[in-house]
Amino acid sequence: MLCIAPLVFLIVQWLIASVGAINCAPSSQSFTIKTSQDVSDIITCATFTGNVVVAADGPEEVSLDGVTAISGNLDVENVAQLRSLSSQTLTTVSSFTLNNLPKLAHLSFPSLANVSSIKWYALPALEDADVTPGKVNSEVDEISIFNTSISNLDWISWPLGSLLNLTSNANLQSFAVTYGEINPGSTLVFSDNAAFRNLTVSQLTGIYGALQVSENPELKSLDFAVLQTIGGYVQLSGDYVNLSMSALNQVNGALNVASTGDISDLCNDLDQKASSHILNGHYDCTANSQKNPTSPSASATTSIAMPTTTATDRPPADGNNGDLSSAAKIAMGVLIPLVAIVSSFLTCLCLRRRLRSKVREIEKNVEERSDSTEPSESNTGNSEPKELESIGTRVEIGIGHEIQELQAEEQARELDAIHGKSELETPITPLTPAGSWWSGHSDTPLVRHELPA
Ligand SMILES: *[C@@H]1O[C@H](CO)[C@@H](O)[C@H](O)[C@H]1NC(C)=O
Ligand SMILES: *[C@@H]1O[C@H](CO)[C@@H](O)[C@H](O)[C@H]1NC(C)=O
Ligand SMILES: *[C@@H]1O[C@H](CO)[C@@H](O)[C@H](O)[C@H]1NC(C)=O
Ligand SMILES: *[C@@H]1O[C@H](CO)[C@@H](O)[C@H](O)[C@H]1NC(C)=O
Ligand SMILES: *[C@@H]1O[C@H](CO)[C@@H](O)[C@H](O)[C@H]1NC(C)=O
Repeated sequence: MLCIAPLVFLIVQWLIASVGAINCAPSSQSFTIKTSQDVSDIITCATFTGNVVVAADGPEEVSLDGVTAISGNLDVENVAQLRSLSSQTLTTVSSFTLNNLPKLAHLSFPSLANVSSIKWYALPALEDADVTPGKVNSEVDEISIFNTSISNLDWISWPLGSLLNLTSNANLQSFAVTYGEINPGSTLVFSDNAAFRNLTVSQLTGIYGALQVSENPELKSLDFAVLQTIGGYVQLSGDYVNLSMSALNQVNGALNVASTGDISDLCNDLDQKASSHILNGHYDCTANSQKNPTSPSASATTSIAMPTTTATDRPPADGNNGDLSSAAKIAMGVLIPLVAIVSSFLTCLCLRRRLRSKVREIEKNVEERSDSTEPSESNTGNSEPKELESIGTRVEIGIGHEIQELQAEEQARELDAIHGKSELETPITPLTPAGSWWSGHSDTPLVRHELPA
């Protein structure tokens, strides 16, 4: 019996050695999981020094129970068969990337606490991520989650160092900003989330970084109940009907609001506060951005504007500008002689072509002219379509036709209680708050309120 003991000890030693066979700090700085045996191997490392990657032809299930820290990144991309990824023990990882995992439906990291960035992209089957609210510490620099089916992200409850970007998550319905300030350098983006209907911003007192909320068709209402200061940048666009910033008194950066719905309450409120010097700073506020300014709801003054469009393939939408008549007259004055010239040289194909391009140039100029006119001069525009139709040349038909289309669209929309996306919707230029606020800003066709400092 006594001589068996050392033998058992040796066997146990050998077993431990073979189980822990992998190097937990490989010189390659990386471990690639290809098989379930690789999973069994890596979970013997409580701390892995380096990156952990799952190969494209990796297993259906990867469970990293046993690993508490990965010094580098956990990087899982383009794994066609992966259905489940989890670790009950992992607390620390530098960057956590999931990208293009068409079958991933189960994601569970309940111990996750220390992570610098989370980037989850293209996860169509993922409806839920099991991350413990309150556990992830506040040193996270970036969380970008886009093109997933995740419905709940309530565990993200602290201000991000640089970026929170929640874009194209079709099942996400609500999110609450549970802190008082968006810090300088920090950007929050909520964009193109089809079911997104409830963004809670009622705790924000100051926005010193950036907030961009755009293209969430179901989001109708935002109540910035205690927001006093915008020191950075705020861009809100969409189909809002109820926006309020009742406590706002300082805009040191920029506030840019445009809604296809009627937010004239907000625009009027801002105007009033500005004129009584309660609000200092500068803002753009556009209500009914797709509606015809001659409709009754557009009776308010400068805060309601028919925006011009920036896309090159669109006709000028502001056919009702007062300046259009002079622009059109100039166009006619130039075009009619040109048409005469063209017809007298019809036999020469080359010359005809050259003149055609000239006509196009002039048409373009006319469009640019009408684009640059002031929306506030829009009162005389009503009779323009008829006037133009009666002339019947190419340019005028173009403009008159578009106006009719706009009016038809407008009526259809009014009959239709549902404000779906329409072809005429102004293309919303997503701003990249990091660098191009002002270039994006200058493209935005809004009425600008310049306020005394
Ligand atoms: C987070 O992990 C890093 C190493 O990846 C470490 O330096 C840091 O102390 C950890 N922070 C906390 C709060 O655990
Ligand atoms: C979203 O994910 C799906 C499936 O992975 C992909 O086909 C699609 O191109 C992605 N769309 C975007 C905008 O990334
Ligand atoms: C929106 O969410 C907040 C908290 O996240 C909740 O208190 C509120 O009732 C929700 N509102 C609606 C209309 O669902
Ligand atoms: C607009 O929002 C305010 C504040 O959240 C709310 O009290 C009010 O009922 C809302 N009005 C409409 C028409 O939704
Ligand atoms: C947010 O994510 C979307 C989708 O990837 C991207 O197009 C957009 O540029 C991002 N915004 C910022 C500010 O990074």
